[in-house]
Amino acid sequence: MHYLDHAATTPVPQEVAQAMAGVLTNAFGNPSAQYTLGRQAKALVEDSRAVTAKALGCKPEQICFTSCGTEGDNWAIHAALHQNRRVGKHIVTTATEHSAVMQCVKQLEQAGYPVTWLKPDANGRITAQQAVDALREDTALVSIMLVNNETGVRYPVEEIAALLKGRPTLLHTDAVQGFMKVPFTAASLGADYITVSAHKIGGPKGIGALYIGGKAKNTKPMLYGGGQESGLRPGTEPTAQIAGFAKAIELRLERLEEIQRHMAACKTYALERLQTIPGLRVIGAGDAPHILSVSLPGYPSQNIVSELSEKEIYISAGSACHRGKISHVLRAMGLDKKTAAGTVRVSFGPETELSDIDALYDALLAHKTTRFPML
Ligand SMILES: Cc1ncc(COP(=O)(O)O)c(C=O)c1O
Repeated sequence: MHYLDHAATTPVPQEVAQAMAGVLTNAFGNPSAQYTLGRQAKALVEDSRAVTAKALGCKPEQICFTSCGTEGDNWAIHAALHQNRRVGKHIVTTATEHSAVMQCVKQLEQAGYPVTWLKPDANGRITAQQAVDALREDTALVSIMLVNNETGVRYPVEEIAALLKGRPTLLHTDAVQGFMKVPFTAASLGADYITVSAHKIGGPKGIGALYIGGKAKNTKPMLYGGGQESGLRPGTEPTAQIAGFAKAIELRLERLEEIQRHMAACKTYALERLQTIPGLRVIGAGDAPHILSVSLPGYPSQNIVSELSEKEIYISAGSACHRGKISHVLRAMGLDKKTAAGTVRVSFGPETELSDIDALYDALLAHKTTRFPML
């Protein structure tokens, strides 16, 4: 198998699976229970919170566990609008956000919240100036992702944070694709809310975290119920998921720079090889080390993905969340239809080997030479 879709999700290392199995079978107590088994589970949750906080360079009490990145994004947006309800209803975001932000903001737009959608240039870049030019007296929230999940382009979150200083406008960043891939801390970004998700870094699916700091205060709870997560996100803690998330973070932290260098080397190698395929175009100025977007204009990506899948080579057609549709990111970048329809995303992780990329190269070249292009 050649798994080259680490931006969609990642394999779970043995150590992570073992940590989770240990919790499920032995340390299975309810963290709210007062006896030893419960207290052990509570300690495990708090240790995991400390590990997550260390990775984000913040205090443990600024971390709330969520069920996934999508939940963190939705919560941050609603919490910010609630806090700033007297400032106004205007939202600034980009036309290239993941659907976890985009669909949430679209719902709000339909409900009467005015939205400014920032458009990227042809390379997928968005500037801090665009965000600042969009600000109004009544801007309650700027939500801008850290790394785009389709192109790997890094957005200027820290510059925007600096330009928002002295204003009540709150800043949220969806850092699901940036977490442990590009260097940052909560302080260096300066965002008030930061969303991360475990399954993009070797953790299990179904667990994420939201950093709440900066100007965010009296946060509106995500759910109402018991007092878990300081009453902000109640529900019995998914202890195995939380322990798996922390273990995945620890494993990556141990070799963070080495892993980032490895992913960047894979990307450079892939670029060198794939660019020799006649007609292949590189899409976007991808900065993140783990995402490479390329197009074979005229060759529909759905066909490429299914043909490669028969050879157990796994890549994705644009974003894994937009199966079958031309991606809104590529459309916003102004790509012509043929190029957009032929775009595939290749993404790397610590497990990627150069032989995976060689297999991809051979398969793409074979696809190009044996298939007729779409007119
Ligand atoms: C940029 C970005 N944001 C949010 C999400 C959603 O995260 P989750 O799958 O944990 O809900 C993803 C997942 O693909 C993503 O890439």
